[in-house]
Amino acid sequence: MIAAAGSGERLGAGGPKAYVQFGDRPMLAWSLIAADAAERVGQIVIAAPPGGEDHAEEVAEQAGVEARAVRGGEHRSQSVALALEHAEHGLVVVHDAARPLATAALFDEVVSRLDSDADIAAVIAAAPVTDTIKEASRGRRVLRTPERSSLWAVQTPQAFRTEALRDAVAAHADELGSVTDDAMLVERSGGQVLIHEASPENLKVTTPLDMEVAQLLLARRG
Ligand code: C5P
Repeated sequence: MIAAAGSGERLGAGGPKAYVQFGDRPMLAWSLIAADAAERVGQIVIAAPPGGEDHAEEVAEQAGVEARAVRGGEHRSQSVALALEHAEHGLVVVHDAARPLATAALFDEVVSRLDSDADIAAVIAAAPVTDTIKEASRGRRVLRTPERSSLWAVQTPQAFRTEALRDAVAAHADELGSVTDDAMLVERSGGQVLIHEASPENLKVTTPLDMEVAQLLLARRG
């Protein structure tokens, strides 16, 4: 499932981020191509900006990828919950269209790792944190400095047992507007979530600066 229903306000591109040009194609197309090339990914569902479902399917078609688009929600996890209604039993991988540099290999790695251990509910891509992170109050008074060696910057793709994610979404339906990734819901339901180390190059395009860096990384790939 590709979460692509964001407005892209912080990027300031004047339209949904998923359709902003990245290299020679819309940003969404890159995630579709990577997911489609992954051996462990079958059916692809896109959570599209409401009213933009047809356009999302056109982007997929132009990229040569078979995908179905459904209406996204107001917040990211609501988009994921809506797309989840179209997921099959077994495993599901959630990915943000805002991470156009994710590779097919990374999709395969998170799915294979999850598939190999029945005790785990989810496997999530993440990179070790290199900055020192501080927790602060609203008034910016520093409260705590967590030990950096135990911190990870979480990415997508994130692979889940479909039923575990469905149950977690149903149990925390009133929190979908505030969670920032889907693994949080599974954690809150008591499910085991495992980190799979991924490259920091799989960055999330949120601001114009992210876009510049991502374009440079894309150009380097050749
Ligand atoms: O807004 P942010 O960059 O955190 O969004 C992360 C991903 O979630 C993006 O790919 C965006 O399109 C998607 N999203 C969504 N539905 C929303 C908000 C964001 O699918 N309502």
